[in-house]
Amino acid sequence: MTTLHALHTAQASIVLEHDPKRGVLWRHCGLRVEPDFEGGDLPKASEGRGLASFALNRDIGMPLVPSSGLGWFGPAAVQVRDADGTLVVFAPDTCAVEASEDALSITLSDTVSGLEWTGSFAALPGGAIRASAAIRNKGDAPVMLAGLASLQLPLAASFAQLISWRGRHNAELNAYVEAMPQQRWEKVGRRGLSGHGGPPGLYVLGQDAGWHSGLAMAVQLEWSGDHSLAIERDYEGYWTLSAAATLAPGEIVLAQGESFTTPAALLAISDQGRNGAMAQMHAAVRAMVRWPGGTMSPRPVHLNSWEACYFDHDAARIEALAQAGAEVGIERFVLDDGWFKGRRDDTAGLGDWFPDPQTYPHGLAPLAAKIEAMGMQFGLWVEPEMINPDSDLYRAHPDWALALPGRERPTARNQLVLDMRREDVRDYLFERLDAVLRAAPIGYLKWDHNRDHAPSGGAAQVRGTYALLDRLRAAHPDVEIEGCAGGGGRSDAGLVPYVHRFWTSDNIDAVARVGMQRGFNAFLPPELMGSHIGASPSHATGRTQSMAFRGAIASMGHLGVELDPATLAEAYRAELARWIAFAKEWRHLLHGTDVALGEGTDSLRWQAAGTPGHKLLYCIRTTPPLDRRPQPLPLPFAASCMAWDVRLLAVAEEPGHGIPRSHLHDRMERESVRYTGSWLANAGLPLPLQKAQSVAIFEMKEVP
Ligand code: GLA
Repeated sequence: MTTLHALHTAQASIVLEHDPKRGVLWRHCGLRVEPDFEGGDLPKASEGRGLASFALNRDIGMPLVPSSGLGWFGPAAVQVRDADGTLVVFAPDTCAVEASEDALSITLSDTVSGLEWTGSFAALPGGAIRASAAIRNKGDAPVMLAGLASLQLPLAASFAQLISWRGRHNAELNAYVEAMPQQRWEKVGRRGLSGHGGPPGLYVLGQDAGWHSGLAMAVQLEWSGDHSLAIERDYEGYWTLSAAATLAPGEIVLAQGESFTTPAALLAISDQGRNGAMAQMHAAVRAMVRWPGGTMSPRPVHLNSWEACYFDHDAARIEALAQAGAEVGIERFVLDDGWFKGRRDDTAGLGDWFPDPQTYPHGLAPLAAKIEAMGMQFGLWVEPEMINPDSDLYRAHPDWALALPGRERPTARNQLVLDMRREDVRDYLFERLDAVLRAAPIGYLKWDHNRDHAPSGGAAQVRGTYALLDRLRAAHPDVEIEGCAGGGGRSDAGLVPYVHRFWTSDNIDAVARVGMQRGFNAFLPPELMGSHIGASPSHATGRTQSMAFRGAIASMGHLGVELDPATLAEAYRAELARWIAFAKEWRHLLHGTDVALGEGTDSLRWQAAGTPGHKLLYCIRTTPPLDRRPQPLPLPFAASCMAWDVRLLAVAEEPGHGIPRSHLHDRMERESVRYTGSWLANAGLPLPLQKAQSVAIFEMKEVP
């Protein structure tokens, strides 16, 4: 008998058909459906397909776990080879499905190949679905696993657009919107880490879908290494979407009884456009963060030493910087690169995790104590997975770096990558980091990773890093960690269980940050997004920006400062302090809450964050307006409340260089103005005149 198995969330459904002759097949993956109704069962997939010309006589539909060789011509979710390299076909002959309200778990066994696939879909609070897969070799002979998708699903023919992100160091997370492909499209990561294009993920949009409405689907792998996200158009007219961690040839050999489990993939399906899918991703990711004490504390405002003094520091210089930070309201001081043995520039020292005896002759404890006495937490930069050839560690263990026998060892930023697959390497790093953390009151680590992997350490390298992080977190559960990789080269859900923040980019220019932050938020919530107020001109771009514009843009994430406040003229230092105070005042609305992104006319971009009845609205202008006056801004989220009181908190721009306010905006700066929800949603909020590089920030409160 054919049976349907379904998993429903508020907005989406996955429906599988278990046909005894054909196995487990996809019936639906999309917006919510009710498959059956009293008195009429859903007809079987095979009944409706008909016999297309030149198609195989044995119609197989789209299997849940397609493998090549027996008439599936799309991408294979399972790719296995035997010891001779011959393809092992996976054609399951028994299927067991377990279904509950919020999970579907499936086991498919193939008695001929001896392979057994198990996979699951779990409905998560907030609406996303987590998928994962594992394969076990129950046969006698070892097999090589060449690929195993975490998730492979059919995309309905009604999808129209695909959004992906690309990037490089200093230019992370640039969004590209394109039409759904007519052939194959693939986003691949081969650098050993998720990369500067952001998390290994993508969005697809149905016809007419946008920020606020329409069918949107998002996928991201919980993975920090090599990956492939592919969309392939089938003869039939639909697409197959696959998401997988890439496995190197020969990397995974499964002896009898052995299994391999994929990283999980998060799937968001929404009828509320990109914002709906984003909200599901945020809920799923938030549930993965392991906060010290179990809940997120208010995100402390950072001062990071890097752009303030780079490698040029010692205890006295750092103390002065910290003091200047404390005076403007900093809550956590992070000592960046340059504190450990032999580290005067980027040519030496990585691996030798001991305070430098010349720069910090008494270790870090006295400095950390002074910083605590100033009322701040002390944080420290490390780059554990790396080694400089010019280091004591390398001189003692040249074999600890990833390398191919007899081949050159290509350096990047003068460093090599440690082989995290090795237990002795992980033990050494644990011992060192543990000792550093025990020797001084350190509440925070910025965990960097500043190069691509060449050669690759494969999936086991990534899992080795996770294991070290896990061990360190277990030993120091109160220490928060920031993930960093030459800026934002490794910001992904795979690291989320081990970290509490990601460094978004070494490019702190606030104009550049606008797009990056929106790309980051497509997959990860704003409280995990490190966003700093940097110097002007920006070190990365040379562009000049007002303190207010830099402050407003940085306040949208987890705020930090990356300059020396003592170098600022008094008025600017006071303004910096005001933006720090602003972030502290509003972080309860900006972190852990709902986020909606949108676009107005004339290149205006906006973001609203907060609870259902209380929002902070940022209207961002990076380029000069082309229209004479800004058009009222429709805010679709506002329709959920009858009426709102709206106040203009600030127009973040260079003081004295803005455009005089209208009477209305002048009034809105002094008192709130009431609008109905339908007016704001459909007619729009009147906006002040803004120059380039400015942000108008409104507070919106539901009228009780
Ligand atoms: C990377 C990081 C920076 C800084 C430097 C230190 O580039 O992204 O923030 O920590 O390394 O070398």
